[in-house]
Amino acid sequence: MEHSILKERENKFLFNTYARYPIEIKMGQGTKLYDFNGKEYTDLLAGIAVCNLGHANMEIAKAISEQAKKLVHVSNLFYTKEQIDLAEKLINTTPHMSKVFFCNSGAEANEACIKLARRYFKNIKNQDKFEIITLEGSFHGRTFATMSATGQEKIKEGFEPLVPGFVHAKPNDLKDIEGKINNKTAAIMIEVIQGEGGIRPLEIDFVKGIEELCKLKGLLFIVDEIQTGIGRTGKMWGFEHYNVKPHIISCAKALANGLPIGAMMATEEVAKAFGPGTHATTFGGGPVVCMAALKVLEIIFRDNLIDRAKKIGGFALSEFKRLQDKYPRLIKEVRGIGLMLGIELTPEVDAKKVFDTIIDKGFIVNLTQGSTLRLLPPLIIEEEEIKAFSNTLDDILSKL
Ligand SMILES: Cc1ncc(COP(=O)(O)O)c(C=O)c1O
Repeated sequence: MEHSILKERENKFLFNTYARYPIEIKMGQGTKLYDFNGKEYTDLLAGIAVCNLGHANMEIAKAISEQAKKLVHVSNLFYTKEQIDLAEKLINTTPHMSKVFFCNSGAEANEACIKLARRYFKNIKNQDKFEIITLEGSFHGRTFATMSATGQEKIKEGFEPLVPGFVHAKPNDLKDIEGKINNKTAAIMIEVIQGEGGIRPLEIDFVKGIEELCKLKGLLFIVDEIQTGIGRTGKMWGFEHYNVKPHIISCAKALANGLPIGAMMATEEVAKAFGPGTHATTFGGGPVVCMAALKVLEIIFRDNLIDRAKKIGGFALSEFKRLQDKYPRLIKEVRGIGLMLGIELTPEVDAKKVFDTIIDKGFIVNLTQGSTLRLLPPLIIEEEEIKAFSNTLDDILSKL
């Protein structure tokens, strides 16, 4: 009853931009979400890789409320301790980086990376290089530049003309990238595991090869860590799995467990391209979100949640591979690193129907690219909760 009223009101007042799940969430607690009828769901999505510490974390709530009583906003015209503390903490997680710029979302963080790369060549190197190579299947955001950077046509449909200067290459095909480098190329930008693209980890040799190409040709290497960062893959940053050192990285999503924040980090040399007045934001790096993010990082390291993501992710992967062995006709591939997991169903399966049944049975997952069940659970998820999901999926698949 309550649902149909909300849906009607949404139709009346909101832009129709989201294909929403048929659920109205009233509250969350840890790894659980509850609707208005009191139905419990196990959250295996964490607000799309955002709520790594689960819902209603009291330590974070306290950090936010105490800061809100002291200072909520003062603008970036002033020094604020919270922002500088957070920058220092972030740099300590990846010491080859030197400077941080804070903003409010993933797209904004990538937008900053793109602007920095262009300006680096114009103002530091005195070179007319502006093209950025990204990968087919990638997702970098919905602003004009990040949409143009994104390697998926459906995201761009109807918004042409796009921002010039983006070229897309095939994932795991170094020759294709090499063929697309010219005297205007400034950077190569990748997600080491494509998230929206269907949980597709890039091959080790390919990512290593990109780093080498960048060195050889004098290009900047940018890694979008918006979905892979902050411990999700069993390492603090996704690029650590590949033993590479990008010049610029972006992050957002899980950094403040649900409060809007984005960050760009860059090496000392590249960071010099931004000076006063070159880039800015009113809200970015405000005291409340920074206090939340400081608490997030404290808890993640104190409670060893990155190791936990690796351990529970390994367990989940083995569970899903067992299901794949049992249902080779229904499961095409199981992919992922840490708690970034995808189960690709075969064309024989009505993936939407499987997805709807999973939701109905009380598990929140995502269906991406039409056929891949995507799981991005909070890092505090328990093995028993993964097991309960895999038993449920087993049961659903056994009836197909
Ligand atoms: C890899 C990646 N980059 C960028 C973005 C855009 O982030 P936001 O939605 O915060 O703008 C996303 C969001 O899903 C993402 O997964």
